[in-house]
This record gives sequence, C-alpha cells and structure tokens, in this order.
Amino acid sequence: MKVVIGITGSIAAYRTCDLIRNLTRKNVEVTVCMTDGAEHFVTKTTFEALSGRQVYGSQWESGMPHIELKRFANLLAIVPASANCIGKLAAGIADDLLTSTYLAHTGKVLIAPSMNPGMYASKAVQRNLRQLREDGVIVVDPAEGEAVCGDEGQGKLAAIDVIESRIIQLISG
Ligand SMILES: Cc1cc2nc3c(=O)[nH]c(=O)nc-3n(C[C@H](O)[C@H](O)[C@H](O)COP(=O)(O)O)c2cc1C
Repeated sequence: MKVVIGITGSIAAYRTCDLIRNLTRKNVEVTVCMTDGAEHFVTKTTFEALSGRQVYGSQWESGMPHIELKRFANLLAIVPASANCIGKLAAGIADDLLTSTYLAHTGKVLIAPSMNPGMYASKAVQRNLRQLREDGVIVVDPAEGEAVCGDEGQGKLAAIDVIESRIIQLISG
C-alpha cells in the first residue's frame, strides 16, 4: 500500500508526523512532498526519518518529480491543506511541485483543510472547497474548537485517526 502525503504551510503540519508514523507502522509506503510554506513549520529531515524515504520539496532539483510522484501511488493526501493550496488546486494553478503533482495525478485525492476559523468560513475558501468536491476531491472536514491563535470555530485539522482511517480505506479499496 502506497500514498503520497502533501504537506502545506499550516501550523498543524507538526501533526502530520504522527500520521506518517502510524501509516508506516501499518506497512504503508509513504512519500512526502512539502511546500516551501510547510518547511517553515517542520523539517524535511523529520519526514525523511519518519517515512524512511526521500522527501520531495522543490520541483527544480532534478528530473520530473511531479511525474515520479504521480506514478508512486494512486492516492495523494494533502494533510494539512492550507487555504492558499486549496485556492490553487481549485483554480488549476501549478506553481510548485505539490500543485503540479495534483494536476498530473490521475488517482484519488484527499485533502484535510486546516486554518483559522475566519479563513475557513470565508466565501473564497468555501467556494474553493465546493469546486474541489465537484472535481472529485475527498475533503476531510476540519474540527470545531479553539485554534492555536485562540479563535473559536471550525478550522482545526481533523483528528489524525479519522484522517488515517480514511487513507487506509482509500488505499485498500
Ligand atoms: C505562524 C503562521 C501560521 C499559519 N497557519 C496557517 C494555517 O494553519 N492554515 C493556513 O491555511 N495558512 C496558514 N498560514 C499562512 C500560510 O503559511 C501561507 O498562506 C503560505 O503561503 C501557505 O503556503 P503553501 O500553501 O504553499 O504551503 C500561517 C502563516 C503563519 C506565519
């Protein structure tokens, strides 16, 4: 069982460490693709150690990494998915490796949004999520509660075990 995990610049990026640890313990092969934003929150080294595999970042390092990634697995799971990334996916913008991989990918796509409740409730983010659902993307809704900034509402990354079960279900089926 294989999955590409995309990680974006959300404060919740540290929670993806547990997700990858849990998946690899279940013998899922995980390849990580991080945006530049994600690298402000967590390091490539952490994900290399947890996944036991090369971590992809810049699309300019060598070869055709978006094609390598799309061939690696039938499931692309973006956890956490930032408002910025969601907007780019909905608009078909491909200005980094993760968004190029999304466009090249012909399999299933899951996203788990994570952001401030105000950002999540914004008309733009809700419109972009509607578009992505219409495009066939599986959205794991964020949870309600207190965000890191102290604001209350829906926007926190969903529970890792909920995201993990959905991933296992999608790669097993
Ligand atoms: C401290 C800090 C925390 C942030 N947390 C989030 C977040 O949880 N969700 C989000 O959508 N954007 C968040 N942002 C903004 C994104 O990092 C920013 O939009 C960035 O351009 C996202 O890039 P990416 O989508 O390419 O990873 C945060 C920014 C900072 C400085």
